[in-house]
Amino acid sequence: MELPLVLGDAETFAAVRDLLRRADYTEAEVARRCAVPSIYAFRTLHDGRAASTGVHDAFDALLHLFLDEEPLPRDAAHALLGDDGVASLRAVGLLADAEEPGHLRATVLLYPTRSLVLASDRTRWPGGEMPADVVYPAITQSTEHFVTMLPDAPCGDLLELCAGTGVAALLAAGSCTHAWATDVTERAVHFARFNARLNGIDNVTVARGDLYAAIGDRAFDRIVAHPPYVSSAELRVVFRDGGEDGEQVTRAIVERLPAHLRPGGALYCTCAVTDRTGHPFEQRVRAWLGGAGDEFDVFFFPQSSHDPRHYFLDRAIGGYEPWASLERRCDSFARLEIERVVYGSFVLRRRMPDAAGAPLTVRRRAARGATARDAERLMDREASLAAAAAAPDGERRLLALPLATSPRVAFALTHALVDGDWQATACHVHLATPFVVDADVAPWIAALLARSDGTRPLRDVVRELQDEGMAPDDADLGDLPPLVHALVGAGMLELREAREAREAREAR
Ligand SMILES: C[S@@+](CC[C@H](N)C(=O)[O-])C[C@H]1O[C@@H](n2cnc3c(N)ncnc32)[C@H](O)[C@@H]1O
Repeated sequence: MELPLVLGDAETFAAVRDLLRRADYTEAEVARRCAVPSIYAFRTLHDGRAASTGVHDAFDALLHLFLDEEPLPRDAAHALLGDDGVASLRAVGLLADAEEPGHLRATVLLYPTRSLVLASDRTRWPGGEMPADVVYPAITQSTEHFVTMLPDAPCGDLLELCAGTGVAALLAAGSCTHAWATDVTERAVHFARFNARLNGIDNVTVARGDLYAAIGDRAFDRIVAHPPYVSSAELRVVFRDGGEDGEQVTRAIVERLPAHLRPGGALYCTCAVTDRTGHPFEQRVRAWLGGAGDEFDVFFFPQSSHDPRHYFLDRAIGGYEPWASLERRCDSFARLEIERVVYGSFVLRRRMPDAAGAPLTVRRRAARGATARDAERLMDREASLAAAAAAPDGERRLLALPLATSPRVAFALTHALVDGDWQATACHVHLATPFVVDADVAPWIAALLARSDGTRPLRDVVRELQDEGMAPDDADLGDLPPLVHALVGAGMLELREAREAREAREAR
């Protein structure tokens, strides 16, 4: 398939940027005019968007051409974008003559997303058949989830694998020393190079290759990837098909990670993976790291999960899988002992060589809206708790801290008639955001949580409850330190300063 975009000179790209800026072609403006919460919720007029902007100014003309994918009369394009504007868009291959006489059409999608404007392939194809190397749009909900789960902290060298448009590398360019974006298709590489120039970014190197093949033996401080992950009997569409179990590309990324990630660095990956009988994903991913497995902390943040039958039913209903192959596909998952297909993000942090304690393996369900900052805080908290626990009597020391119950915690007490007395017999604690935690605890823990307001050490609260006969005697409290450790790790108990800092952040 022809490559529509032209890697023109810096001056022409500056003129295109200027046109987009003057037209206010930003994510906020798309959201405002199209009455959507963000670019990720954008729908074309063709797909039934109610809010039509009409075509009255330069912004409307850009939206009409590049997001609605509609042809525009040449006269209107010149009147609204200016002769120079049309000329610069044509010079970099973004605009071409439409089949309809006297009209211009966009050759690609072009959209604002966060601080960037990106080009990817259009979505409507003659005959409806997508080319195998079609460039994936960076405004899908999956890419939104991917970039939302990427840290924005500065870093040295960053690598985006499976880069497509290069969205993550380009977003990170401002806060890292140098970024690489690699992809297996020539088409994606061409689009990512175009996007780097369009956005005036010159510290991103784009290269073509199968995963790490394009970067030789270079090592990085952060590696990010949003690989193809759809289970597919054949490999047809490169951005989508992840082999029989959907994990083919993800597994290859992890297997070769130890050769390319520096100590202290991390891989951030968003995709669908599988839990298998007796082998949840977080265990399997550590095994993929081979001999280097113990050098990594593993954090897995699932967002949704399906049993295999529902997974394939959804795909058949959506028209992505022939109904005739449903039983065969379910059988193949049964053979692989796949129990759940889980969509989410995972982080593999490479520990420093002198790190104390055993490597961490943590799985927490991410609520909608969970961000990279929430994940970073959770990972840091788990790491410092593990370091504290590794010290002699470490877990017991937590009881000396003035811990407060998070206002996000809810608990349900069950009462039952025991020997003629209504007694609390069970307690279920629940945290809904940013990570979902459910746990069954002894009923007296409800009183402990209710009285923990961060003004005195937890130990004093326990003593008070013991004096009132609500908590068991000292002799029975052996399970308490590990439970408090788990509640702190889950974010249910926190230091008051930590809570105040979080509330101040959220109020901003
Ligand atoms: C789901 S898209 C993600 C694109 C972009 N990173 C984003 O988040 O919008 C997956 C990308 O992986 C690329 N890809 C598939 N197999 C690959 C491989 N073996 N090596 C490198 N890239 C690959 C595809 O060409 C496609 O661009």
